Formats: sequence, C-alpha cells, structure tokens
Amino acid sequence: MERVAGLVCMDCGKKYPKLPISACKNCWGPLEVEYDYETLKEVISIKKFEKRPFDLWRYIELLPIEDYSKMVSLGDGGTPLHKCKRLGELIGIKELYVKDDTVNPSLSFKDRPASVGISKCLEFGINVVGCASTGNLAASVAAHAAKVGLRCFILVPETIELNKIIQMSLYGAKIIGIKGTYDEAFALGIIAAEKYGWGLVNINIRSYYVEGSKTMSYEIAEQMGWTLPDHIILPLGSGGLLCSVYKGFSELIKLDLVSSEEIPRVSGSQPIGCAPIVNAVRNNTHMIPVENPDTIVHSLAIGNPAHGDYTVSLIRKSGGTAYAPTDQEVLQAAKLLASTEGIFSEGAGTVTLAALIQLIENGEIDKDEKVVLGVTGTGFKALDSLSILVKKPINIEPKLELLEKLVDKDKEENMKAIA
Ligand SMILES: Cc1ncc(COP(=O)(O)O)c(C=O)c1O
Ligand SMILES: [Zn+2]
Repeated sequence: MERVAGLVCMDCGKKYPKLPISACKNCWGPLEVEYDYETLKEVISIKKFEKRPFDLWRYIELLPIEDYSKMVSLGDGGTPLHKCKRLGELIGIKELYVKDDTVNPSLSFKDRPASVGISKCLEFGINVVGCASTGNLAASVAAHAAKVGLRCFILVPETIELNKIIQMSLYGAKIIGIKGTYDEAFALGIIAAEKYGWGLVNINIRSYYVEGSKTMSYEIAEQMGWTLPDHIILPLGSGGLLCSVYKGFSELIKLDLVSSEEIPRVSGSQPIGCAPIVNAVRNNTHMIPVENPDTIVHSLAIGNPAHGDYTVSLIRKSGGTAYAPTDQEVLQAAKLLASTEGIFSEGAGTVTLAALIQLIENGEIDKDEKVVLGVTGTGFKALDSLSILVKKPINIEPKLELLEKLVDKDKEENMKAIA
C-alpha cells in the first residue's frame, strides 16, 4: 500500500483521494491525511532520521509530500528545546522546557505548516498561493512563495501589527487588508480559492498544511532522547497546531519510535478576549464562536477556529486542560520569559506560560510533571503591545561620576529587592 493513503473525514470517516480539498461533501467535517502505518514502519528508522540535517524535512516520510523534488525549504523547524531551570524554580515546576519556535526562518512556528502547504501546492501544479491569516502565517507563506517564485495573495484583518505587514510585504506578497475580523477574511478566502483556483494553504490545502506542525512533536521526542514529556501546553488560534501535535505524539507511539505508550497531557491557552476553545473545555460544552475578538494578542484573535471542536475533544481525551489569561497576564509572562530564560516572544507564545502559572496555582498541574511550553512567535513582530512593558532608558553624558550615581542607585534597589 502507498505510504500516503488518502484523505479521510474526521467526522463521518468518508474517504477521499489526495486532492486539494479540505472539507467533507457529506457533512462538512475537516479532512485529514491518512497514512499506511505498516508501510511507514518499513521505510523509516531513527538512524535514518538522525543522519539528515536537523530541520523538519528530516521526517519527510511522515509528511504528505510524495514528489520530494517539490519540497520548499528555508531550513524550517529544527528549533531548540531549552531546559528552563531558572523559570522552573521560580514558578515551581521541577522539569520545565520551552520549545523555542520563535527562531524559525520567518520567526514563528507557522514555517512548519507553510513549508509543507507550499510544497503541496507545487505538487498539485498550483502557481498562485496564499492564506487568510492573523499575520504570522502570512509572513511564512509569503517567504516560502518567494523562494520558489509563486504569486502570493494574503487576506489579513486591517488591524494586525505593522511589523508583520512590513515583513510579508518585503517578501513580495499582495496584501489585502480586510475591514473585519480574521473569520471574515477566512470566509472570503474560501470563495476566492474556489473562484480563482488559488492554493490557500490554511483553506483548501489545510489537510496537508496542518501536517507540518506534527514535526514539533517529533523534534521534542528526539530532543528528549526519543521519550515523551508528561505535559505540553500550546497556544490556540484555529486549533491546528494542537491537533497536529497530538497526532504527532500518537504516530510516534504507533510507529514504536518512543518507549512511552501514553500520549502526554495536551493543554491549550487563548487570551480571555478570544477564548472559544478554552471556554468549551472549562465549561464542558461545545465550542461557541466568539463574534468580536477583543485582545492585544492579535495572532490568536480567531473567533471561530477551524479545528475548534476537535481541539476541545483532544484536550479532553489526553487529560489536558485549558486556561485563558488576561492580556496583562500574557504581557507579564512575556517579560518573565525574557528576563529569566532569554527568550523574546510575542503574547501568542507566552499565553502558554501565563496559563502554566495559573494552572499550578489551581492545582491542575503537578510540580513533578515534565512540562513543555510551546513558544511560537517572536516578540519582534508585536513590539507595539510589548512596548507597554518598557520604561524609557536613562540617558547620561559620557562621564564616570554620572555612571557611578546610576550604579549606586541600582545597588540600593537590588538590596531592597533581596530584603
Ligand atoms: C505565534 C502563533 N502561535 C500560535 C498560533 C495558533 O496556531 P493555530 O492557528 O494552529 O492554533 C498562531 C496562529 O496564528 C500564531 O501566530
Ligand atoms: Zn464527513
């Protein structure tokens, strides 16, 4: 049997051939890529992976690309897993890690799904690509499209950060600012993909695109010596990342690549002003979309997540939990992460740390759990919100006596803080 078997509806189980489609004609459920795991077992091995460069294409057999010559890579993935001793001690977790996806080529984890999505577009012979986006995916799609000379259309809410606009614009994308929410941009994208035959990676190429994010699980397992953590906390927008990371862990177990037999607890976090998935988990209900997201964490302002109900069910199935911090908690977490571990993240990444702090306090996370936080996007793209945290630096004439005054004042403040 072929390694990539086809597409299957996540709701009703109807099977589909490998086409640029992402929704079931029977029930409108999302389609996902199905693999033949017996064939996969014959063609993969840890030794084979370990001989390749440390980026996401190291695990190519576990991705839905069939013509390897169409692979588009900017060196995506292969990001560090930092052991966070200082931060762990401070918040009371014995073994804490950060998967630092802020250092991807376009500075967010979106390079994982985008590189797979654009590769798949090339395979399908599609030569105009794009996405609907809250900013990070747009930059990533634009960068990968530039690498292979594809035209690229981006639909974004007009309110996203200027830095993200500058980045995607320099990559050469045609940016269409939507006077409305991300969800409205997404709805327009569905029509545009159909009308113009575009490959919009998170719309009609979505089933293939989300597969790229599984590589985060593979890397974490490999970086932990082919074992799994006890718990991972991830940011939630559309829910695609969390569902893919869950699938990645389950495949590692299915393929006997790790000794563990249990999927880690998988938990999620969204800002309180846009938390449809978290609300459903905490209130034990179905997901109810949020019509008007209200948060400074623009990357996560998705009111009607495409993978919403699946995310809720996978969080429950894994024994995970969810929490929605305030914008203020998210910003404070960004400061804490940067000042204890040297990792500079936007709020969309630090919702996970803000959630962890609260979940420890609630007793929903045990201090002995081996916890990984997914930190998914750089702080440089969200300077307007992070700048709220920053005091203006003191400027002095270049004179020793003026420097001495400042050093003495700092000493005093430090003594006071210790006492
Ligand atoms: C930095 C960052 N982290 C996490 C997410 C959420 O990912 P997903 O939409 O797959 O849930 C996003 C979404 O745009 C993002 O930009
Ligand atoms: Zn279906």
